[in-house]
Amino acid sequence: MRILDTGRGWPHVLLPSGGDVPERPPSLAEAEKQGAWSAWRAAVAAADPEAVITAVTASGLRGRGGAGFPTGQKWQTCRASDDPRRHVVANGFEADPAAQVDRLLMERAPHAVVEGTALAAFAVGAAEALIVVKDGYRDAIAGLEAVVRAAEEEGLLGQNVLGSGLDLHVSVRPMGGSFVLGEETVLLRSLEGRRAQPDQRPPYPSERGLWGQPTVVNNVETLAAVPWILRRGASGYAEIGAKQTPGSTLVQLSGAVRRTGVAEIPLGARLADVVERAGGGSAGRLKAVLVGGPSGGFIPAEGLDTRLAYEALESAGAMMGSGTILAVDDSACIVDLATLMTRVVADEACGKTIPCRIGTRRLAEIGERMTSGRPRPNDPQSIQDLAADVRDAALCALESTAIQPLLSGMRYFGQEFEDHIVRGDCPAGVCRPIRVAPSASQRATPSRSA
Ligand SMILES: Cc1cc2nc3c(=O)[nH]c(=O)nc-3n(C[C@H](O)[C@H](O)[C@H](O)COP(=O)(O)O)c2cc1C
Repeated sequence: MRILDTGRGWPHVLLPSGGDVPERPPSLAEAEKQGAWSAWRAAVAAADPEAVITAVTASGLRGRGGAGFPTGQKWQTCRASDDPRRHVVANGFEADPAAQVDRLLMERAPHAVVEGTALAAFAVGAAEALIVVKDGYRDAIAGLEAVVRAAEEEGLLGQNVLGSGLDLHVSVRPMGGSFVLGEETVLLRSLEGRRAQPDQRPPYPSERGLWGQPTVVNNVETLAAVPWILRRGASGYAEIGAKQTPGSTLVQLSGAVRRTGVAEIPLGARLADVVERAGGGSAGRLKAVLVGGPSGGFIPAEGLDTRLAYEALESAGAMMGSGTILAVDDSACIVDLATLMTRVVADEACGKTIPCRIGTRRLAEIGERMTSGRPRPNDPQSIQDLAADVRDAALCALESTAIQPLLSGMRYFGQEFEDHIVRGDCPAGVCRPIRVAPSASQRATPSRSA
């Protein structure tokens, strides 16, 4: 996956800059020359975990795993627990099968990921931290393991860190599983060897997580921003991006853009600017962008003034999700794409609750009726009713967001849905409706006189 250059003026917190990031991560010594591990050394020397939490809170950093929860607040809850056995789990599972954002970060900037994980553990008072990585990400796993080994040899991690008396063990844990494994409670259950299904929250993992003990689960990108924040100051970070959503994030651009790859974007940037500066503009007549992965939402080309920020995307019917932006031109059918996304999520659901297990499948089936020329007149209403049931009964966000592709598709591209349902037509020419010949009883009886 290529790193996209976004030109002047956009920040480089997570990745040095567009073209000049080496394919192979630097050694510990090289990384230290560039500033890596200095925040860690300073934090251990100062022995003031609360100060780390204060800085992260002041920076306004919010979780990049999709939901945007304030990171400092999560750490504070964990630290405030009476239970001294605490854990940190860095979520590098990257559940969205089409996303490569976290993979690229872990491959190209493993020092920031490991240092950020160590700082989180130090801040909350955890003696152990796990970095969970999708098992197919071999280079990322090897790179992270090499960084942990080198840091241990240097005395930065392990027993008696830098002679401070602090013990911190960081390990890399490859894991395999479906989309839902990325959800934090599912991930924690799986780490305990239990069935990969979500738990009711609250209690949140920061109160009761791994082995019933307080656990911070953070996305690897969230953690990778922490060393920069401590080195350059919380106010430096808060100056990047938007007020409600400071900092930068990595997004993956694919589909109908001139350049595909991963780019670092200041939060609050207009989607139009993301497509233009990172993707080099659209290739073809842009119809929409699908933001947030298989359970994300469509935003039409006319809505590209929408900001890349949690709340703004949610009001538009999309979400940050996996950080992927799929540009869709007019050769694509929104009904078809929305159905495909719904099918992916339905197939990846763990099946714990009935509205999720059955509801997401029924939604996909309704979509498939429309794309194969067998729609029913009340299908739009059925989608709305079923979507409300699935959302209201949701145990985890897989369920509550599974409805977004169809709902956002209907919201902005109602005419395309109507064309499929009323006329049995696919304006983009993508769907191949099977036109079923009317049965004998439906056929008009020829008049005898004719
Ligand atoms: C279906 C589903 C998949 C998810 N996949 C991921 C993932 O791959 N990586 C991730 O960090 N968070 C994922 N999340 C979000 C996590 O549950 C959790 O909110 C996140 O890891 C917390 O980290 P953050 O506060 O740094 O965002 C997923 C959530 C759901 C519902």
